[in-house]
Amino acid sequence: MSQPVSVEIHENIAIIAIANPPVNALSHAVRAGLEAAFAEFASRLDLAAVVIYGTDRTFIAGADIREFGKPVQEPLLPDLINRIESCHLPVIAALHGTALGGGLEVAMGAHYRVAVQSARFGLPEVTLGILPGAGGTQRLPRLAGVDFALEAITSGRQIGAQEALKVGLIDRISTTEDVRAAGIAFAKDLLAEGKGPRRTRDLVVDPVAPEVFEAAKAKMAKKARGQLAPQNCIKAVEGAATLPFAQGLAQERALFQELMESDQRAALIHAFFAERQVAKVPEINGVTPRATDKIGVIGGGTMGVGIAASGLLAGLDVTLIERDGPAALMSGDRVRKTLKDSVNRGKLSQDSYDEILANRFRASNDYKALVEADVVIEAVFESMEVKKDVFTQLDAVCKPGAILASNTSYLDLNEIAQMTSRPSDVIGLHFFSPAHVMRLLEIVVADQTAPEVTATGFALAKRLNKIAVRAGVCDGFIGNRILSHYRKACDGAVLAGASPFDVDRALVSFGLAMGPFAVSDLAGLDIGWATRKRLAPTRDPREVYAEFADRLCEAGHFGRKTGMGYYVYAEDGTRENAEVLDHVAADRAAKGITAREISEQEIVDRYMAAMVNEAARVVEEGIALRPLDVDVTLLNGYGFPRWRGGPMQYADTVGLDKILRDVKRFAEEDAFLWQPAPLLARLVAEGKTFADLNNA
Ligand code: CAA
Ligand code: NAI
Repeated sequence: MSQPVSVEIHENIAIIAIANPPVNALSHAVRAGLEAAFAEFASRLDLAAVVIYGTDRTFIAGADIREFGKPVQEPLLPDLINRIESCHLPVIAALHGTALGGGLEVAMGAHYRVAVQSARFGLPEVTLGILPGAGGTQRLPRLAGVDFALEAITSGRQIGAQEALKVGLIDRISTTEDVRAAGIAFAKDLLAEGKGPRRTRDLVVDPVAPEVFEAAKAKMAKKARGQLAPQNCIKAVEGAATLPFAQGLAQERALFQELMESDQRAALIHAFFAERQVAKVPEINGVTPRATDKIGVIGGGTMGVGIAASGLLAGLDVTLIERDGPAALMSGDRVRKTLKDSVNRGKLSQDSYDEILANRFRASNDYKALVEADVVIEAVFESMEVKKDVFTQLDAVCKPGAILASNTSYLDLNEIAQMTSRPSDVIGLHFFSPAHVMRLLEIVVADQTAPEVTATGFALAKRLNKIAVRAGVCDGFIGNRILSHYRKACDGAVLAGASPFDVDRALVSFGLAMGPFAVSDLAGLDIGWATRKRLAPTRDPREVYAEFADRLCEAGHFGRKTGMGYYVYAEDGTRENAEVLDHVAADRAAKGITAREISEQEIVDRYMAAMVNEAARVVEEGIALRPLDVDVTLLNGYGFPRWRGGPMQYADTVGLDKILRDVKRFAEEDAFLWQPAPLLARLVAEGKTFADLNNA
């Protein structure tokens, strides 16, 4: 294997190239290579400067995350960076691609920084549940000030070269994109000016009032509720302002170690890798996808408009089909309005907006406009009759090889596929609302879907900047199926004695952005009502059916859209709807239930046990390929707190035996809802975890 760190001497300049594909992460071999190079420079009298750059697509994109949680091997990154900073020769970091995390820390330990125009910078550690633990919290405030450092480190956001220059993070933007040449040119200029080492550690942090840190802590306590890393980030930056460099560094290390040992760090790193792992689907390995340049969207309602906008924002050609002329005109206007909102929010330039409307978008009521479409995505009403009619028409007009996709939430994709003469070209592409914002895409593979078609679904997701998860056919696929189940557990907690408001409060404090009853109000209570009515004929007589939601609907309260549901939505704010408690009390009385005290912990236990238990069935039935596919679905489509890693990661953390015990405990009250999933029981018996299945 070639060495990840190589040194070449160009005139009197040592040039260090880092080549550790794909992202030049600072794995042990890279750290050791850099250490050896700098050790050798100490005795070289013929050298005048050192340039460090990354080969291929990027400078160093950070520490090697795969090494986290394993025994650390020397040299440690903080020590290596101190060594680089101590070098007697001026050290220049030449930056391109993404200088992230430990990569940016290496750059800040160098004495000067030059970047190509397209380079990006950031300290994303907080998103992994840690902090920049190799001097980043001490050097960034010295270079760019405390305010910038606090904001950049607690958000983890990336910045471009212009902003980096403005705040003082880099010294120069090169005119060339050739990063090696840019580094050499800067080194020569510095030498010509007689510049020597300029150590970041020697810079003085501009004084700041102590209240700045208290305010930052309070802000993050609210914004990143329950999360440890943002608080430790702030404490570390505070150290840069209040302690000598060496002490600040030692404190940063201690705060870093504390995070490294936390479940939150493990969960966030699980999420990072799981989101990359979901794209690894055996059946499409090595399969070439078909074209995805021209897409058709059928139905210009909530979802169709969002899907069309998503395609247009990603540079695709989009044809939207509605039922009739007026509906086509109206949905065309809604797409334009969605794009205009993107312009107003600075996400799309006016020029691109004009270009899209002139060349890449049209709305029509004529299916013949789809003859050239590579992929057609149906998003009409959730009715099998309507969908069958649409697929029959698509089969008649679409070119051979075109992919016919449905955005259905629950319906049987195999049945839809049978409406066409080409079931192998039919697939589910299940977007989430709003479709141009939400990153999850469930790719639903029907019995006859060809691997090439599945591969094309994944390729399209990538173009749309979505995270795609493979799902099998069942009522609700991965996400909605699990949702239906844990939603019943929430109703069960209410029947047992909690109020819907207790349930919402407990789950918000667990980490959800919104409680499930507030979410129902937002989505519209009539939607769940319609589904319950549809499923009523097939309902199992053993099911404990909570009726209080139906009572609200019968009274005409559909949630936000009618101003009242579980909550009352008034001009002066939102409050709990006391009427709900009467409906709940009547429901309990009719069922002969005596309400008892339900603790916050019990609410969380019920919610999580129901979610994990059903998810175990989803995995066992092959609806989800692995537990990690469930985690990615819940994290990106259902607001599950990322710092808990997803329900399966959570279950591994608290112990599968605890989840199984909870399922059995709640079964004493409702044996039908709480049937232990065989996979869960088996893993407990074998002493295994969901992670074992991920790694299998
Ligand atoms: N360590 C190990 N592997 C990494 C990695 C890292 N820091 N960053 C990316 N990878 C891997 C990915 O897992 C992926 O592997 P597979 O192909 O096997 O799935 C591969 O590199 C390519 O990654 P992406 O698919 O994400 O490629 P991209 O081009 O879309 O994005 C990127 C590139 C912007 C660098 C993105 O990968 C990224 O954001 N990486 C994480 C960067 C980061 O968080 N760095 C900080 C690390 S923590 C740190 O540095 C701590 C410290 O101070 C000591
Ligand atoms: P919607 O009611 O807002 O829009 C449906 C649109 O389809 C209407 O504009 C209607 O005029 C049009 N339409 C009906 N029949 C048509 C036909 N034959 N040809 C062309 N257009 C036709 O519905 P929504 O919410 O957009 O849902 C659409 C689909 O997406 C459903 O299958 C739904 O289950 C699914 N879905 C909905 C989500 C949501 O949050 N709303 C999330 C994910 C999927």
